[in-house]
Amino acid sequence: MESPVQPQPNPLTIPSYTDLPFYRKQVRIALRNCGIINPERIEEYIERGGYLALAKAVTEMTPDEVIGVMKDSKLRGRGGAGFVTGIKWEFARRSPAKPKYVICNADEGDPGAFMDRSILEGDPHSVIEGMAIAAYAIGSEEGYIYCRAEYPLAIAHLKIAIQQAREFGFLGKNIFGTNFSFDLYIKEGAGAFVCGEETALMASIEGRRGEPRPRPPFPAVSGLWNKPSNVNNVKSYAMTPQIILNGAEWFASIGTESSPGTAIFALTGKINHTGLIEVPMGTTLREIIYDIGGGIPGGKQFKAVQTGGPLGGCLPAEALDTPVDFDSLVQAGATMGSGGMIVVDEDTCMVEFAKYFLTFASAESCGKCVPCRIGGRRLLEVLTRIGNGEGKPEDLDEIEYISRNMKEASLCALGQLTPGPVMASLRFFRSEYEAHIYDKKCPAKVCRGLITYKVIEENCTGCMVCKRNCPAGAISGEKRQVHYIDPNICERCGICIEVCKFDAIMIE
Ligand SMILES: Cc1cc2nc3c(=O)[nH]c(=O)nc-3n(C[C@H](O)[C@H](O)[C@H](O)COP(=O)(O)O)c2cc1C
Repeated sequence: MESPVQPQPNPLTIPSYTDLPFYRKQVRIALRNCGIINPERIEEYIERGGYLALAKAVTEMTPDEVIGVMKDSKLRGRGGAGFVTGIKWEFARRSPAKPKYVICNADEGDPGAFMDRSILEGDPHSVIEGMAIAAYAIGSEEGYIYCRAEYPLAIAHLKIAIQQAREFGFLGKNIFGTNFSFDLYIKEGAGAFVCGEETALMASIEGRRGEPRPRPPFPAVSGLWNKPSNVNNVKSYAMTPQIILNGAEWFASIGTESSPGTAIFALTGKINHTGLIEVPMGTTLREIIYDIGGGIPGGKQFKAVQTGGPLGGCLPAEALDTPVDFDSLVQAGATMGSGGMIVVDEDTCMVEFAKYFLTFASAESCGKCVPCRIGGRRLLEVLTRIGNGEGKPEDLDEIEYISRNMKEASLCALGQLTPGPVMASLRFFRSEYEAHIYDKKCPAKVCRGLITYKVIEENCTGCMVCKRNCPAGAISGEKRQVHYIDPNICERCGICIEVCKFDAIMIE
């Protein structure tokens, strides 16, 4: 009998999240489970095909076959350098010494970056599974995840995941009833950026000071405790199970010829939709910033995008059609790095922006080699001088001279790449540097040494709010009288502009 109640059409059409502009162009491989499964329940990972790749690798494939698939997929390590993962595994496999170690680099110290932390928080098993597959491929029985202690949720989820993987027999002795045994430990890092460099990272695991050493020997030959070791980034391991399950061809069909697969970015800065994104390599910066990120807030103009973290570089509006992949970004004048992407608008001073990254990188220099220890400081002195309005015409040559020497003579990529953001901003925004030096002006009106706060007389009602809030006591004036800012006392903190309700303060 027909039901007396006829179903009514639903007046509310709730779109799938994949229809939202933020997700429409995304292809999620490493992030496929993030936000979808409960990372504290291994069952939910298994329900989405988890540990099938490990089962396939150890029960159906030889270690050489696993390495073959990884090589054919042409996966390039997602930690920054972009070295082909399968080749790295092959080197480690061929190293005769034993034991061998598998290490996951989860240091992630770039300001504004949260790709690796989010994967560990949202899908720790994908990394554990990737590491176990790497261990099988190179012949290792012991692994370490080096994660900075500032990521407590990532560490908590990892601890739960490792324990559950042991209980389910995915870690430990005789995995899937085979001869393969592998277990995993977490090493908490104290939060030094240089400890993300693989040789410094291994020194830190050994309990030594986190300082890099020259390579060769590469970790695959002599790494942790001088034994063959394979170091990969969180994202590289998280992609591995999908490559083993779906095949090298599938992975290589996504992205570009020389950079297959997807790129993961932590999209931040002056952009409407910030967050973690995963897109096929070759997607353009414009698509990321406008289609996914929703453009620049407040109708402001896009000015630049910094890729590659504090050691990367910025690109201007003319480069918006650059495809994001390892080689195109370098060709354009930036780098891929580990996936930080910071967008800035017209209100950003590019000298100040470069100084921000330089301040970070020079403070994080471990001090072991002179070019990095001294060069970073000298560069910062020059940039500080320029920002304070004390720049000299020869400063631009000085920047190039110091940068060249740091690049050529530093021991590790920290020193070699510290000048990157300065050099990129000088290349694309040279006129801004010149305005600071020759005209003593900061075009974006940011650099404190080059700006003056002034009261706009016709707008000032004498409400006293700015005077009351000025921390330096630089503002004078009676009630209902036009106020005055003393430029010799003013600290250019901008609080007066923030609190003024009458738009009565301007920057010159
Ligand atoms: C100063 C510095 C910091 C680094 N930080 C990281 C990091 O946080 N995570 C990472 O995976 N690689 C980092 N790297 C790169 C590593 O040395 C190494 O190349 C990487 O972990 C290899 O993994 P992959 O082949 O999967 O990219 C850093 C390198 C330098 C010079």
